Amino acid sequence: MSPHIPVLLKEVLAMLSPEDGGVYFDGTFGGGGYTRAILEAANCRVIASDRDSFVEKFADEVKSLYPSRFDFFHEKFGNIKSICGSEQKLDGVILDLGVSTFQLTDPERGFSFNLSGPVDMGMGLCDQTAMDVIRKYKKQDLANIIYEFGEEHFSRRIAENIKKNIGKIHTTEDLARVIRSCVKKTGKTDPATKTFQSLRIFVNKELDELKKVLRDSVDLLNPGGKIIAVSFHSLEDRIVKLFFRELIKTRPEFREKSFTLLTKKPIIPSAEEIAVNPKSRSAKLRGISVVC
Ligand SMILES: C[S@@+](CC[C@H](N)C(=O)[O-])C[C@H]1O[C@@H](n2cnc3c(N)ncnc32)[C@H](O)[C@@H]1O
Repeated sequence: MSPHIPVLLKEVLAMLSPEDGGVYFDGTFGGGGYTRAILEAANCRVIASDRDSFVEKFADEVKSLYPSRFDFFHEKFGNIKSICGSEQKLDGVILDLGVSTFQLTDPERGFSFNLSGPVDMGMGLCDQTAMDVIRKYKKQDLANIIYEFGEEHFSRRIAENIKKNIGKIHTTEDLARVIRSCVKKTGKTDPATKTFQSLRIFVNKELDELKKVLRDSVDLLNPGGKIIAVSFHSLEDRIVKLFFRELIKTRPEFREKSFTLLTKKPIIPSAEEIAVNPKSRSAKLRGISVVC
């Protein structure tokens, strides 16, 4: 299985600038790349979560290196308050959204339209699979999911073709074939890309999770504390951007904390990083910090 290369690691670390005694929440532990870098940078503590039980073995390795400074929870980051405890104060929250290379390259997880596997797409702790969704939802509802979470203009046509051929869909390869058969390929992008994205976001309730963790992080941050998010598609990036804008705009008399933006424009990977790790190409990093 291919290793996961942490995206924008240098930039995230520089923005977070971990300090001795600090407490940081890594909501998307994955292969542990960010967590390890933070623990190496300062004599601080990291509380980490990931919804995927597969990463527990990486968490065990980090725990054996930093037994008193690291704790891992197999949880969704939307539960940040129950994970950390509502009294816990944090100096930083980092979120590296989206799927890891481990998830993407394992055919059994069903994330990739280039590999044949079950139509699953769950990252863990989900209540349904993508197969349940395409079977269970009516044509119109499926079209709405594909439109809303995939921004796919051919959503109706795709939903209709999926429902018409549902008996022939057993694997991700079958699903991709059914989508490709009704949408013409233009440019380099595979016609199945947006539909796969929409199903994945829907199955994992990714946007609701993101909104929840952003909202709840605010209450846990110390003065100087930061929220740093790396997103990989426009729907996530828009949520982060609008949430940060709202925090800046809200008049201080209506909140206990005021904020400053750390990124007027998102930071994107350099050409060198993209050359080494092409999966980083759509990443956008945004950050905000509590000023008082
Ligand atoms: C891009 S990877 C993170 C990689 C990590 N930064 C590293 O350096 O190895 C994203 C991880 O976030 C996890 N994840 C996605 N949504 C989550 C959620 N709502 N709660 C917890 N973990 C989540 C995925 O399971 C995946 O392991």
